[in-house]
Amino acid sequence: MKIVILDGRREGDACPVFDILLDALQSREADVQTFRLHDIKMGSCIGCFGCWLKTPGICVEADEGRDIAQAVLRSDTTILIGPVTFGGYSSEIKKAQDRWIPLILPDFGLFHGEVHHKPRYARYPRLIGIGIQSRANDEEAHLFKVLVGRNALNFHAPSYAADVVQATDSEASQHAQIQRILEREDAFPLGKAITSLMPGAVSTDLPADDQESMAPLDRSRRALLLLGSPKIGSPSTSGILGGYVLKQLAGYGWETTPLTLRRNLIKESGQAELLAAAKRADLILLAFPLYIDSLPFLMMKALEVMAGQLDPPSGENPKRLAAIVNNGFPESYQNAPAVAICRRFAVDTGMTWLGGLAMGAGEALFRGQAIEETQRNGPPVVHVRRALDLTGAALANGRAIPDEAIRLIRKTPIPIVPFRLWRRFFIKTANQHWRRGAAANQVGSEAMRAQPYEHDHQSAKTI
Ligand SMILES: Cc1cc2nc3c(=O)[nH]c(=O)nc-3n(C[C@H](O)[C@H](O)[C@H](O)COP(=O)(O)O)c2cc1C
Repeated sequence: MKIVILDGRREGDACPVFDILLDALQSREADVQTFRLHDIKMGSCIGCFGCWLKTPGICVEADEGRDIAQAVLRSDTTILIGPVTFGGYSSEIKKAQDRWIPLILPDFGLFHGEVHHKPRYARYPRLIGIGIQSRANDEEAHLFKVLVGRNALNFHAPSYAADVVQATDSEASQHAQIQRILEREDAFPLGKAITSLMPGAVSTDLPADDQESMAPLDRSRRALLLLGSPKIGSPSTSGILGGYVLKQLAGYGWETTPLTLRRNLIKESGQAELLAAAKRADLILLAFPLYIDSLPFLMMKALEVMAGQLDPPSGENPKRLAAIVNNGFPESYQNAPAVAICRRFAVDTGMTWLGGLAMGAGEALFRGQAIEETQRNGPPVVHVRRALDLTGAALANGRAIPDEAIRLIRKTPIPIVPFRLWRRFFIKTANQHWRRGAAANQVGSEAMRAQPYEHDHQSAKTI
């Protein structure tokens, strides 16, 4: 049995859980390969889709990120282990995981009643997620488990199991828990298990009269837009949506600063730039694409840096946080774990959560064009513009993103057409789009389906 462990523990994370896991695997005579992510130098995904359209099945970046993806695919079970971070993975795991998309095809299909990418290979590993919490938090533990299940769906895992271990528990109880995780098969989080994760309008966080009292802004008006799309070379949908709201805020007299997260965020200089901008801001707006069911590496890293180094809120005016997430699949609810992670970040750092917008089919709707341009010669996005107008007005007045905006941005873009029909149309046109993109690089349909990491799994099994 070939097991790959992606060890996402940070430097100095002392906890016996990892050793307990290794012991449990050794007693099963598993062939274990561990990647200690903290010590591995590799680039983060830049969302170029080269692994689908230029070098099918292989990331264009030649570093250990490729080796990890290959090892994951060839394993019988892949185990992700690390600290539960606002309900998600640590940025260490996220960096490696974002590099998994070469393992699937660009083509979309319907699986379990929702859109996912088609498998590139005939089989994928079972997925296990082990989160470690130094302080118990049930909401984040639940979120973590759902996230692992969503990853399992996206990567066609035959089964999965996920759990959160408390660092303060006795070794005996941790040991028993690890044994159970290794054997268990959890139910895939579909239907209500995922849609119920979507945080609604902020009335759940703030009583209505509290929102009223926030209305007249008696505080400074400085907004920071943190852009988490790593795309270079073409404008991102996140930039289009976030930039539009930032312009609205400027129109309402706010001082606005956009900051696009780049790889220098792993260095002190990039972190200092982020912290200086975040310190000045009264409102932080996150805008990012969904990457493997949660935040892209750089966005996750930014949250970690801010949580670790921003002073805790003092006085009556904590910073406010809102998020705009867009994803590739047409179901906007697939963004639910990402929005929930942003909300948990706000709660954990004492910021006031003002809500999140989740938009499906972001790549297909905008294709790098500004909203005004898309409205003129692209698919219908009037509802998106209205949602952003409502969002800008609410945030400018110190209020939470209204329900109406959250509802509008999730709408099926073609009026009257039911979602199922729109989804069928989406799958067909999007798959043609990928084929054209590959053809432009002289990559034909067959070459697109290359299986560079194909391997005879039966012979690899020792037990
Ligand atoms: C590494 C990677 C992982 C992705 N994972 C998902 C995903 O899990 N679900 C989804 O719906 N879309 C996923 N997408 C698609 C993006 O969310 C989508 O293309 C988005 O519109 C890009 O937004 P941007 O232009 O702001 O970067 C992924 C894209 C990349 C590059």
